Amino acid sequence: MKNNYDNIARYYDFLSRIVFRTAQQDAQTALLPYIEINSKVLIAGGGTGWILEEIAKRCPPGLHIYYVEISANMIALAKEQKYQHEVTFINMAIEDFNRDRSLIFDVVMTPFLFDNFSQERIKPIFLHLHSMLRPGGRWLFTDFHYQKVAPLWQRILLQSMYVFFRILCHVEASALADIEPLFKTHHYTSLFEVFYFKKFIRSAVYYKEGLVNNC
Ligand SMILES: C[S@@+](CC[C@H](N)C(=O)[O-])C[C@H]1O[C@@H](n2cnc3c(N)ncnc32)[C@H](O)[C@@H]1O
Repeated sequence: MKNNYDNIARYYDFLSRIVFRTAQQDAQTALLPYIEINSKVLIAGGGTGWILEEIAKRCPPGLHIYYVEISANMIALAKEQKYQHEVTFINMAIEDFNRDRSLIFDVVMTPFLFDNFSQERIKPIFLHLHSMLRPGGRWLFTDFHYQKVAPLWQRILLQSMYVFFRILCHVEASALADIEPLFKTHHYTSLFEVFYFKKFIRSAVYYKEGLVNNC
């Protein structure tokens, strides 16, 4: 199966820390203040689930988190974390989840998810996530920072990662795509942006414009 991190689940966090120290974690925890009390939260591609412990420490009560992961091994690790909110674990590709849109979310989180997808799959997956986020909702986005001309060390590191993850996890992508135009076209406003690891990692909070029905 493409983009499935089963083979590396047990070592993923360790490898992340060796290469990026705490940057990948810091980039995600920086977004957590944007989750409000009683929110319904969708996390797509959350990995080992360390983020659930951070949410337990930093976020207000009343959250219901849907944790959608394609990797069964990642889900098994996530279930072992000390989370406190209500968490529904779903071992499924995000593109197959909630196709009838019976669930609508206040917050969608995609931490290092889009860098896995080939160019032609990015837009349909973006649109699927977009359709599950309510107007007035927030999209918490973290990924490697797309730049037209990235520094040489970033290009080398990125390509090495793509080779490594293609061999072990059958990652389909071979280059980063620019997601920003999709947020612009679909009327998202940027509320917050922050960079890590010499601008190699970018996190952003996008607000979905549209009519908010408070009734
Ligand atoms: C690069 S890892 C990031 C893990 C975690 N977000 C972190 O930063 O530690 C990408 C994760 O997305 C999952 N994934 C990849 N494609 C997916 C899909 N289509 N639907 C759901 N999860 C997916 C992988 O199994 C993997 O756990």
